[in-house]
Amino acid sequence: MILITGGAGFIGGNFVLDWLANPEAEPLLNVDKLTYAGNLKTLESLGQNQRHRFVCGDIADYDLISELLKKNQIRAVINFAAESHVDRSIHGPDEFINTNIVGTYRLLQAVLHYWQSLTLEAQREFRFLHVSTDEVYGTLSPNAPAFQETNRYEPNSPYAASKAASDHLVRAWHHTYGLPVLTTNCSNNYGPYHFPEKLIPLMISQAIEGQALPIYGDGQQIRDWLYVKDHCCAIRHVLKIGEIGQTYNIGGHNEKTNLEVVKTVCDLLDELHPRKDGQSYQTQIHFVADRPGHDRRYAIDASKIEQHLGWRPQETFESGLRKTVQWYLDHQDWVTQVRDGSYRDWMKKNYQLDA
Ligand code: NAD
Ligand code: DAU
Repeated sequence: MILITGGAGFIGGNFVLDWLANPEAEPLLNVDKLTYAGNLKTLESLGQNQRHRFVCGDIADYDLISELLKKNQIRAVINFAAESHVDRSIHGPDEFINTNIVGTYRLLQAVLHYWQSLTLEAQREFRFLHVSTDEVYGTLSPNAPAFQETNRYEPNSPYAASKAASDHLVRAWHHTYGLPVLTTNCSNNYGPYHFPEKLIPLMISQAIEGQALPIYGDGQQIRDWLYVKDHCCAIRHVLKIGEIGQTYNIGGHNEKTNLEVVKTVCDLLDELHPRKDGQSYQTQIHFVADRPGHDRRYAIDASKIEQHLGWRPQETFESGLRKTVQWYLDHQDWVTQVRDGSYRDWMKKNYQLDA
């Protein structure tokens, strides 16, 4: 059995659904704290699937994780659990320190003690895969080469700093104690079940509700967009054939400015869900105050994972974004359900907007 943490969130949820779509794949034990970002509705289509077991729990709970590892004879752990939203880390870093740093530390300790109790053969088979971000590398100037695994860590937001700290802990648990770890650093994901506080789903929701589309600063910041299912596929590759102790950058070869992304979302909505007054959704674009410390550009050099593990993204930005916009139009019930009272409080706090 494989233990997944954070499997009710955006990427973890997509990973669980994709993994279990393969009838040959091992069963999953999914541990998620169900913060505001975790939604069991994402996993509803699994029904009573016997190969999926959900436990509501915290990665920082050493006793719970130790018991689950032992009882279920876990052979790999994939750590998706994190506080993941940069803006929230600016307003309140506490939970980022608690989960991303202390939580990863306690999880590593539980996993290490379990791993040390295994037979030599089981130890050799075991993997701890830590899912991280390109934000640990900081920001790039316009013509700088894309991030490689050897780039220096220069995190700029409380979120990025907390993820960088977690990566260092994972590295140290390998070098010091021999824990068989793998780390992945991925660029911006998009796709189904993305919580509507992140750029793309936020813009879709705001647009169809006739609200302003808030673009930070001049909208010229660049992100490298990857369709979430391509990311899940990359993680499966790394888990299966990645070299112990290595880190792998994962990206989509899709560098776009935020303004380009939002305009493309508007164009797709104009086609798939036109406004009643015949105007373009682009008229709702609204420039707002910039994010403090906003990183200007991220870009991933994914040549290592391509050359060593044979992974390449399958989706183009155009095809992936079209699927994503259509998914949100078809799944408004999911959006409504995940936007509870705390979502409305967040919109007021960050944008002074009523949701
Ligand atoms: P998310 O915020 O959508 O989901 C995080 C999940 O973790 C939620 O289900 C939440 O309930 C759970 N969680 C939070 N704290 C927990 C704790 N203490 N114990 C157990 N569960 C807890 O995040 P996401 O976008 O799915 O990101 C998943 C991982 O991928 C994160 O580690 C993030 O840093 C990384 N990542 C995300 C992106 C992206 O574009 N979204 C890109 C690169 C890397
Ligand atoms: O790069 C990987 C990272 O991508 C992950 O590690 C994070 O978990 C994930 O949240 C994402 O971080 P970003 O800060 O890049 O994502 P976000 O969707 O919040 O913002 C994308 C860009 O859009 C960023 O430059 C800020 C801008 N933005 C965002 C929001 C929410 C706006 O202009 N307006 C907005 O309202």
